[in-house]
Amino acid sequence: MDYKYSQIQEVASKLKDPELLKTKGRAILRSPELNGLFSHLKEMDANNRAEFGKEINNLKTELTEILDNMENESIQLDPIDVTAPIDKNVASDKHPRLLNSSHGSKHPLMTELDNILDIFYRMGFTALESRQVDDDFHMFESLNFPEDHPARDDYDTFMTTTGLIAPAHTSTMQNRVLVDGKKLLDEGSPIASVLPGRVFRNEDVDARHGHTFYQVEGIYVDKGINTGHLISTFKTFLEEYYSQEMELILQPFYFPFTEPSFEFVLSCPFCQKNGCNVCSYSGWIELGGCGMIHPNVLKMAGIDSDIYTGFAWGFGVDRLVMMKHGIEDIRHFMAGKLEFLRQFS
Ligand code: DAH
Repeated sequence: MDYKYSQIQEVASKLKDPELLKTKGRAILRSPELNGLFSHLKEMDANNRAEFGKEINNLKTELTEILDNMENESIQLDPIDVTAPIDKNVASDKHPRLLNSSHGSKHPLMTELDNILDIFYRMGFTALESRQVDDDFHMFESLNFPEDHPARDDYDTFMTTTGLIAPAHTSTMQNRVLVDGKKLLDEGSPIASVLPGRVFRNEDVDARHGHTFYQVEGIYVDKGINTGHLISTFKTFLEEYYSQEMELILQPFYFPFTEPSFEFVLSCPFCQKNGCNVCSYSGWIELGGCGMIHPNVLKMAGIDSDIYTGFAWGFGVDRLVMMKHGIEDIRHFMAGKLEFLRQFS
């Protein structure tokens, strides 16, 4: 065989190496080895040139076909979990690397939740996340909702036939924190906890109501605690969060787990009570519920309600954040639209 033809075979066996094809991809069709073969054509007489040229083109066609097949194969790979924090595409014998997060950003609700918790930490509270699956005892019974009490209907609760509950409020954590905190009281320290979490309601969804949203519950118990402590704690938090003076009003309300119970309403941080579309032109915004913890709730956790009193509150994080950033529709938070999320990155 002519020396030039053996060169074609040599280049062919080098370029058909699967590893090389995988790493170089289509760049192989422009490789110096292949171009080098073409450059021999000039030195040949017309007869040999046609024959030799055909052989090189055959090799090029063969390489193109192999590359096409490889690309089709890679399309048939198993689907990957794009939400995994590690790169699942690395070979199984290599250590998976962490994915580069430079293209993502924290969700605005989580950024604000951190800001909210940070304020409470500085006020001496500790935090515990609420559960996303709970039971009847923590959703109702431990909170002084007697069985079949109509107040249960105020919470459009999702529950399974086997009794599991998607909690409709973060108050589900109250009994747990009180039971755990009893030893703090015995040592002479207060119970001071904030309880952030996701809650679920069978709501008719509109611009101000979602079926899934976030709440932050707060609970404080010690000797001699009264409504004044509740108001000053919450006002301090709000003024720190919005970096401005705020007016806070407590309106009488009913919750089975507090006595007295209130709904807290605050002056609109957008229009300073002049009226705007954030506050529906009323100048005031309802933020959540609060009150002095009902003696039955303390008793249920083994705390002596003749010695200790406490306050509790629960507010919606989504609404607080909507007011902070002028977001007009609660549904933006869950829509996963990049145009919305990028504004907060
Ligand atoms: N759990 C109530 C709700 O979601 C809000 C609430 C009211 C929480 C009074 C409390 C409280 O801790 O004391 O409607």
